[in-house]
Amino acid sequence: MKRIFSGIQPTGEIHIGNYLGAIQNWASLIDDYDCIYCIVDYHAITIDFDPGMMQSRIMETAIINIACGLDPDRCSLFVQSHVPEHTELTWIFNCITPIGELERMTQFKDKSKQHRHNINIGLLDYPALQAADILLYKAHFVPVGEDQFQHVELTREIARKFNRRFGETFPEPQVLPPDTPRILGLDGKKKMSKSMNNYVGLTEPEDEIWEKLRTAVTDEARKRRTDPGNPDRCNIFTIHTGFKSREDLEAIDRDCREAAIGCVDHKRILYDDMMAHLAPIRSRVRELRENVDYVKEALEKSARRCREIAVEVMDEVRAKTGIRPVN
Ligand code: TYM
Repeated sequence: MKRIFSGIQPTGEIHIGNYLGAIQNWASLIDDYDCIYCIVDYHAITIDFDPGMMQSRIMETAIINIACGLDPDRCSLFVQSHVPEHTELTWIFNCITPIGELERMTQFKDKSKQHRHNINIGLLDYPALQAADILLYKAHFVPVGEDQFQHVELTREIARKFNRRFGETFPEPQVLPPDTPRILGLDGKKKMSKSMNNYVGLTEPEDEIWEKLRTAVTDEARKRRTDPGNPDRCNIFTIHTGFKSREDLEAIDRDCREAAIGCVDHKRILYDDMMAHLAPIRSRVRELRENVDYVKEALEKSARRCREIAVEVMDEVRAKTGIRPVN
């Protein structure tokens, strides 16, 4: 079975961008691949964070991922820091990764602007740790949203560099793209993200979700209810494609272009479809929150399994780099 690796940061509420861009895709892969999914706490500390909240955020991230379909009996879901080889391999990669490659990463540039007061080395080195996550398990495929394609490309470059310098060791992992495009935030301009506070959280109260959708930006050229709308320019329409197929949305597409429905009408339909889709997930989240021991045990079991793989690969890396004598 080919192996898959992907990760998510425990930085707060999981939103529909994470869900449509990543987690939904992850859940659909668990029976066809050896899937390893990771809650990347070391990545999460590259921006400001509250130590007192870290453990609850890790647990909540695990709960939501399991509720979205990452059944711990059919895939691995673990916490990055429980397998210390991730940071060890990062150090080796640091020594073969040019600073210039890291400085040109779009995410680093964006986050440096957002967190001007805290541009730390971890933020710059984030992609090297991500490469270590993936290559430590010699993963073949990496299902991620569009914003992460550049990091996976750098991972491939690091794998090639390591192999050239120290001998064939790592496969070059490939991106598995999601069906839905990058989900923009409610402002309709920037990527939906926790840090921009422009998101719809998977487990937010229903009235808050409606309030967020109701005030979200649509096709800005449509000024009045009677103006025809253009779904191709409407973020609400794009979000809707995550919850309904394009064919099922044909009637809305037509009604919108003919001004038969207004933006608020469309938002109400999206709200109903989204809530119907999320209902079983939200109910499973409530159950799992009452059963934290089950979640903790699942995380620990996965970490033990992943560590076995990681220790073996790290031994190989140490031997190849001369850090430890070859047996
Ligand atoms: P994170 O937590 O920022 O994002 C988790 C996943 O959600 C996707 N995503 C989106 N997709 C579509 N539209 C959006 N608005 C949106 N926002 C987030 C991201 O593409 C991602 O797939 N760097 C990774 C975490 C990571 C990782 C790894 C991933 C660490 N190590 C190794 C793969 C392999 C990240 O972006 O997490």
